[in-house]
Amino acid sequence: MKIAVYSAQPYDRRFLDEARAALPAPGVEAVYFSDRLELDTVPLAQGCQAVCVFVNDLLDAPVLEALHALGVRAVLLRCAGFNNVDLRAGARLDLFMARVPAYAPEAVAEHALALVMTLNRRTHRAYARVREGNFALDGLLGMTLHGKTVGIIGAGQIGAAAARIFHGMGCKVLVSDPAPTPQLDGVAERTSLDDLLARSDVVSLHCPLMDATRHMINAASLARMKRGAMLVNTSRGGLIDTAAVIEALKSCQLGALAIDVYEQESTLFFQDHSSDIIADDVFQRLMTFPNVLVTGHQGFFTIEAMREIAAVTFSNLACHLRGAPCANALPTT
Ligand code: NAI
Repeated sequence: MKIAVYSAQPYDRRFLDEARAALPAPGVEAVYFSDRLELDTVPLAQGCQAVCVFVNDLLDAPVLEALHALGVRAVLLRCAGFNNVDLRAGARLDLFMARVPAYAPEAVAEHALALVMTLNRRTHRAYARVREGNFALDGLLGMTLHGKTVGIIGAGQIGAAAARIFHGMGCKVLVSDPAPTPQLDGVAERTSLDDLLARSDVVSLHCPLMDATRHMINAASLARMKRGAMLVNTSRGGLIDTAAVIEALKSCQLGALAIDVYEQESTLFFQDHSSDIIADDVFQRLMTFPNVLVTGHQGFFTIEAMREIAAVTFSNLACHLRGAPCANALPTT
């Protein structure tokens, strides 16, 4: 069994090789490609029976059909979100498709906290200033988070971890989620999306990207937010209408924006573009705001999460090889 690993960085190789060495099934070989999976890069999987992919790889119907024609029968996602996969096409082709549903949800929640703390207390600016011998405080004024209201949209594994963190800091925590959230009784107050937007000083997004949630943060929802509130997105870029967010930042309706994900991130993130001309004017406009903080999809990036991702990816493969049912299989519709 040969696996083509797409979007592979040196750190992916390190953790996947470690997990493969521990795999009970011998004879599994991995070939690593830094390329993103898309129609043009499908031929790299020639001779492979499985592909292993990440968040920005494209698994639409033409890509899945082309992989299937090459002899690929398994798609191993080394991530939780599967908004980049055409589930119907995968089911029609009878592909085994599985994901890593949770890998240290606390890692992403902690990153959301890091973004809030950095942006609020301007530690990114303070760091640069102090290194230049500038100890002035002007421009570094933040707010005390204790006692503030934090709204969590999507209280699944990551959202619940974030709710517990902010509750522990003495914040009032609101959650909006169509599913029941009994694990947050005594930690957070359940409410509607509109009420959460109206009352929160910080709004943090933790729901999946689906048709129903695409651009859930748009001109109308931004107008419903408290003037000057902070918006944090560590979930998926497509939850936010970036053009509307830029307008809200310009009018100061939105007080600050911290994002670890960006709708058009697939052409930018996980690569070094420091010597390139970046053609994405929307992204470049975002970078001009002093109250915008962007990280390049690193919420998951801890040693513990990388180990978990690699181990679960190979245990999913082991299910496929045994023909056993897999708890992490993607839904078929
Ligand atoms: P989860 O499946 O445990 O929780 C998602 C929650 O969102 C569920 O409780 C669901 O009921 C809720 N939800 C669905 N539609 C909603 C809506 N319209 N409004 C409010 N809530 C809604 O997922 P988990 O593990 O907590 O991950 C959340 C998201 O975080 C993933 O979908 C993924 O996009 C993102 N993620 C980001 C990472 C990063 O590195 N930045 C790493 C891992 C995941």
